[in-house]
Amino acid sequence: MIETLAISNYRSLQNIVIPLANLNLITGANGSGKSNLYKALRLLAETARGGVVNSLAKEGGIESTFWAGPAKISRAMRQGEQDIQATNSQAVKRLRLGFAASEFSYSVSLGVTPPLPYPSAFELDPEVKRESIWQGSKYRPASALVERTDCLVKARDKRQWQVITQHMPMFESIFTQLADPQHTPEVLNLREFIKNWRFYDHFRTDSEAPARLPQLGTRTTVLGHDGSDLAAALQTIIEIGDEQGLEEAIEDAFPGARLTIQVSDNGLFNIEFNQHGLLRPLTGKELSDGTLRYLLWVAALLTPRPPSLMVINEPETSLHPELLPALARLIIKASQATQVWVVSHAPALIDALEQQAECNTIRLRKQFGQTEIEGQDLLNTPPWAWPDLR
Ligand SMILES: Nc1ncnc2c1ncn2[C@@H]1O[C@H](COP(=O)(O)OP(=O)(O)OP(=O)(O)O)[C@@H](O)[C@H]1O
Ligand SMILES: [Mg+2]
Repeated sequence: MIETLAISNYRSLQNIVIPLANLNLITGANGSGKSNLYKALRLLAETARGGVVNSLAKEGGIESTFWAGPAKISRAMRQGEQDIQATNSQAVKRLRLGFAASEFSYSVSLGVTPPLPYPSAFELDPEVKRESIWQGSKYRPASALVERTDCLVKARDKRQWQVITQHMPMFESIFTQLADPQHTPEVLNLREFIKNWRFYDHFRTDSEAPARLPQLGTRTTVLGHDGSDLAAALQTIIEIGDEQGLEEAIEDAFPGARLTIQVSDNGLFNIEFNQHGLLRPLTGKELSDGTLRYLLWVAALLTPRPPSLMVINEPETSLHPELLPALARLIIKASQATQVWVVSHAPALIDALEQQAECNTIRLRKQFGQTEIEGQDLLNTPPWAWPDLR
């Protein structure tokens, strides 16, 4: 489980350290930084998948993702006695992402490529400058297990440091190059942990959405991001998963309704939804946007193979507020098997999730352009230190 998430110099997240629990709700006004936080978490996930450099390029280059405000907002600026202006900072610009988890902790620093001595079409690519893996929540040199500085990677071998490579490509994370179970088991362990995080963003529910169409099905323990394997995922839950949970989730939202999956002679899976008052079941094509979306969330959240972290972004989209308490109950249930991160600004969903005593609500607000957590002060901020900024 991730216990602390830390981000520095990414858009409105100039410096933020977030304590996490099993069930986390991220909320806040428009523009407070919810999507930035979601995107930062995705970037962190991309480092383990080898896509962080590419993802930053797609965002318009690392330079545009750096915090656009001054390095420090002075007391005079806060009190309005002085305009917000650049402070004299000599520090090199780094985008930093990191987390502390129960077993190992990890952080990465990214920066721009320095001028190259030869012409290159890749001079706008970001570089991985520093990566560290350590044990415990707060970084200390004594607790470090793997250290990467530019092209050099060292791993601790009992009391000694062993050089693993001096030729680590600057455009790659240690996760893409090192996964040797003997010399760097921590890298392998963390890579698998991060690769296992699952993100669900807006599912398509328009009339041509893949989730509506009959699809060839095989056993599907993890719903795909586009929901195209919805019928197969639901049938998998019925056969080898929490069938009773599925029935309850449907009864909870649509009393009297029944879901079946029909398989045609040529192996196509199709949803059939029997609703109270109708003489024949409705197929995927005929379901309302909200009904289809609810079924997508049921399939995602009742997965027979829970990930280490499930991130769901604004699940309320196109759901009627009346359905949100049922969705909240599904999310709460999922949080018993996996760590959950929900980004939402729907009051009915927030209220229902907050009824759960264990719900960790992170309320974001923006102050001087900077995202902050409401109610956080020095005393309740989790301990955190960046390895390259001790
Ligand atoms: N490079 C940057 N430096 C500083 N602030 C930035 C940067 N890029 C974007 N922002 C700020 O981040 C804010 C957007 O945050 P975000 O999209 O995460 O908001 P949100 O909470 O998801 O809002 P909504 O509810 O409207 O979706 C904007 O107010 C924008 O000014
Ligand atoms: Mg947003």
